Amino acid sequence: FWTVDRNAELSTSYPQITQAAELLAKNEVVAFPTETVYGLGANAFSDKAVQKIYEAKGRPGDNPLIVHISDHSQLNELVTDIPPYAEELMKAFWPGPLTLILPKKEGLSRYVTAGLDTVAVRMPKHPLALAIIKSAGLPIAAPSANLSGKPSPTLASHVAEDLDGRIAGIVDGGPTGVGVESTVLDCTQEKPVILRPGGVTKEQLETVAGSVEVDQSLIEEGHAPKSPGMKYTHYAPASPLTVVYGSPAFLQILVEQKQLEGSRVGVLSAKETALSYKADQVITCGQREDLESVAASLYDALRKFDNKEVDIIYSEAFPQEGVGQAIMNRLLKAAGHSTVSESGNNGK
Ligand code: TXA
Ligand code: MG
Repeated sequence: FWTVDRNAELSTSYPQITQAAELLAKNEVVAFPTETVYGLGANAFSDKAVQKIYEAKGRPGDNPLIVHISDHSQLNELVTDIPPYAEELMKAFWPGPLTLILPKKEGLSRYVTAGLDTVAVRMPKHPLALAIIKSAGLPIAAPSANLSGKPSPTLASHVAEDLDGRIAGIVDGGPTGVGVESTVLDCTQEKPVILRPGGVTKEQLETVAGSVEVDQSLIEEGHAPKSPGMKYTHYAPASPLTVVYGSPAFLQILVEQKQLEGSRVGVLSAKETALSYKADQVITCGQREDLESVAASLYDALRKFDNKEVDIIYSEAFPQEGVGQAIMNRLLKAAGHSTVSESGNNGK
């Protein structure tokens, strides 16, 4: 795949940018970095182009895509009505990891919105993403550039692992940065509602929009999520994962029990506590004291277990504050909500 010199990313004159934009204009699908995860882009107005995304990813047809723009003026062709609080949020967080759900305008490929009357829109912050969208001159539909069900890609090599041979190209901009996907916010209600926690935290949104609600399905089980994508199993490594609420000593006891049963055990740990574990494989993902660093390396860590010989994985839990909400949302999804708690009350 193509590479782009990371230090020179800010230039918009890279041949890779033009090449990617030309392929997009020809209704091909191309992967490129955003500040959250790599996206798999296609012309949002073309049925043929958007269908290629679903084919390449093996994505269920009822899971709509996010439309990426490089300029506010592009909103005119995508949405009909923008509430004042959404305008304020765009001003504060665009370009950035915030996706707004708004009433859609006719003209978009129907495969982008999967039959809904709303559309998800975001302006990414990555200079390469912005340059490619601008150069293509089109709104670009782009889900994360992974095979459906796998952790989202935070390196170009993750994209290649999943999609090499299935897409027209990959623009390599190095590691993405934020590491978890954008926050998806429903802006069709009186108050904004978080449908997927992500790179912009609830606390940050509230500084601009006042009170922000959270979709019931994120708070307790048994509610159908409003964001179709949230109902699918996701991010799962090849071996079963369990999230452990409790001390490193408690987690180590679980490891030893499984090893006595003959299992090879992996542990996903923050750097601070990694030396507490004697397991078959210990993989670290950032520092607990810096949850941004955990978010940045979480998916790479989950993918690393796919290459390791373990039968079962235990992961530490992280505080549900700031970006910790997105981290725990993804970890619990990766675990299929399998949890163990030292205190016996499931730790929540
Ligand atoms: O950070 C990100 O958002 C990345 C980068 C590439 O921009 N993209 C991403 O896309 O994560 P994807 O397709 O993996 O996730 C999009 C989420 C899904 O959960 C989908 O169901 C939801 O957004 N979504 C899209 N359109 C929607 C709509 N009209 N109403 C509710 N949810 C919607
Ligand atoms: Mg995805």
